[in-house]
Amino acid sequence: MTANRSLLLLPGDGIGPEVMDATRRVIDWFDRENRLNVDIGEALVGGASIDAHGTPLTDDTLERAKSVDAVLFGAVGGPRWDGLDFSMRPERALLGLRKEMELFANLRPAVVYPALSHASSLKPGIVSGLDIMIVRELTGGIYFGEPRGIEDTGGGERRGVNTLVYTTREILRVGRVAFELARKRNGRVCSVDKSNVLESTLLWRQEMTRLGAEEYPDVELTHMLADNAAMQLVRDPRQFDVMVTTNMFGDILSDCAAMLTGSLGMLPSASLGARSGDRIPALYEPVHGTAPDIAGTNRANPLAMLSSFAMMLRYSFDLQDEATLVDASIGAVLESGLRTADIMEDGGRQVTTTAMAEALVAEIEKRA
Ligand code: IPM
Ligand code: MG
Repeated sequence: MTANRSLLLLPGDGIGPEVMDATRRVIDWFDRENRLNVDIGEALVGGASIDAHGTPLTDDTLERAKSVDAVLFGAVGGPRWDGLDFSMRPERALLGLRKEMELFANLRPAVVYPALSHASSLKPGIVSGLDIMIVRELTGGIYFGEPRGIEDTGGGERRGVNTLVYTTREILRVGRVAFELARKRNGRVCSVDKSNVLESTLLWRQEMTRLGAEEYPDVELTHMLADNAAMQLVRDPRQFDVMVTTNMFGDILSDCAAMLTGSLGMLPSASLGARSGDRIPALYEPVHGTAPDIAGTNRANPLAMLSSFAMMLRYSFDLQDEATLVDASIGAVLESGLRTADIMEDGGRQVTTTAMAEALVAEIEKRA
């Protein structure tokens, strides 16, 4: 059968290649079963690309990322490249891909699997059954605003500047993604800002309010200040359905939400652009980062990457049954007691990254 879909794998640095390798086993299974039919390419990114090509993201890799149906991304960065100039750091690859592919909507679901309700640092009574979706604006705000930089102001003084800026268009397009998701979930959006201090996010609140009233009167819209939202996430996270927020608040709140699920190693993400024709630019990545302390030891948790792959099946390839198969198999493998080190608990059986992936393939095979 000829491949009708295209996928670019960018493993990156640290534990990126290990969790990518684990995910590859599942991808290959779907391919063998003729349930995916995908052309797979691979390229270096981040520190690995700096070492090989002198730049974190080559033009060639960027062009390939723009032309495929979906990109699966590992993680970038590490102490080895920490001393580099800002424009040359591994993280620039990720920021460059987000900006150039115009991936303005970042979906970060935080779901607590029943088997893991004891793995969270919060009491099971607070997190069990948790299912929230954080929608983070990803191509604007303080991450990209101009002017930016560090300048010498003389006399041994320096000045560091970043700019927090949002326009109506940027707010509305990510807002629509949040409202649409809420319609398919529990019908509630909480928009997070700091409108009591920052004008750019006062505009955020005003535009979200207008959007809700004009286009989504059926969805319940509430607003929350970012500091309160951080507090509410650890006090009573189940009050939320969809949260929508700026680039930087989303960065912070999604790490916080990830820990509610037991480990940063459990949180997947999808970064989506605007649909044109039947194509949506898309990049899928685990939220966890490179974890340099355990890189190369086969101890990383591959489940965030595997659920990111499930999100790809759902959002890019419209393979709902296959996505559900992966998600349900992850739940079952956890139910059976298998644990990577990060989610290890009494009564669990600790396994390697590879063993976790193999168990998942076996479970998928059994359920298929
Ligand atoms: C994330 C990461 C990135 C971000 C870094 C690696 C640039 O923390 O995806 O949450 O800040 O967006
Ligand atoms: Mg982050």
